[in-house]
Amino acid sequence: MRLKGKVAIITGGANGIGRAAVKRFLEEGAKIVIADIQKEAGEELEKSYRNQGYDVFFVPVNVAVKEEVENMVEKAKERYGKIDILINNAGITRDAMLVKMTEEQFNAVIDVNLKGVFYCTQAVAKVMIEQGYGKIINTSSVSGVYGNIGQTNYAAAKAAIVGMTKTWAKELGKKGINVNAVAPGFTKTTMVEKMPEKILNYMESITSLKRLGEPDDIANAYLFLASDESNYITGHILHVDGGIMM
Ligand code: NAI
Repeated sequence: MRLKGKVAIITGGANGIGRAAVKRFLEEGAKIVIADIQKEAGEELEKSYRNQGYDVFFVPVNVAVKEEVENMVEKAKERYGKIDILINNAGITRDAMLVKMTEEQFNAVIDVNLKGVFYCTQAVAKVMIEQGYGKIINTSSVSGVYGNIGQTNYAAAKAAIVGMTKTWAKELGKKGINVNAVAPGFTKTTMVEKMPEKILNYMESITSLKRLGEPDDIANAYLFLASDESNYITGHILHVDGGIMM
């Protein structure tokens, strides 16, 4: 019960890595706000966990829209009275080579993966500052740290996560708030299913552990950074990538 009594918002919690995190966090005693744009999947997940006796609250939200984010955070606060943990996990890809990438593709990824993280953190940080406690975990990517062919937009947003994580760690440390990021490698979710098999086989071959990541591999890193075990860690980018690059 490493998160007993804690309240966590997990954005993008309806699928993939976020969904795995919802499960792990519930098992460790947290109360969870699933903040996701997919209404049906979110409602189903909420129902299924409530039937198992867990305290879960689904709030439909597009993290790229500031007012929707503020409304989601308000609802979370109203329901639980506090927010201990924010997992900024929601993300999208719109891959294309540099010369073919449209402005629409560029903006869509920046809106969700960069501005969405800014909106969520700004709204939640206000609550955490008042509490004098909080754990904020962002999601970068190997693409943001090392670059990746076809991902100008995504790599830009994920590199920005590194800068924002370190900036917020410096700003919020004195308020009792830890800010860290996880940089996953290629992990088996619908996001990666869209990628050509040839590329995935190549990625696997250059990964030291010779396998792609499982959603639980990343969820366990979120859990560590959300728990008291990481109380003296802030401004850190934790690479969870099977040793794909070093
Ligand atoms: P996924 O596509 O399986 O799940 C993403 C979730 O985010 C979905 O539930 C989706 O509905 C939600 N979402 C998307 N746009 C949203 C919006 N505007 N507002 C609210 N929710 C929204 O993706 P996956 O793989 O689980 O990715 C999770 C995070 O991990 C993302 O930030 C992604 O960039 C990052 N990541 C994933 C990697 C991978 O190989 N799967 C590698 C590196 C980073």
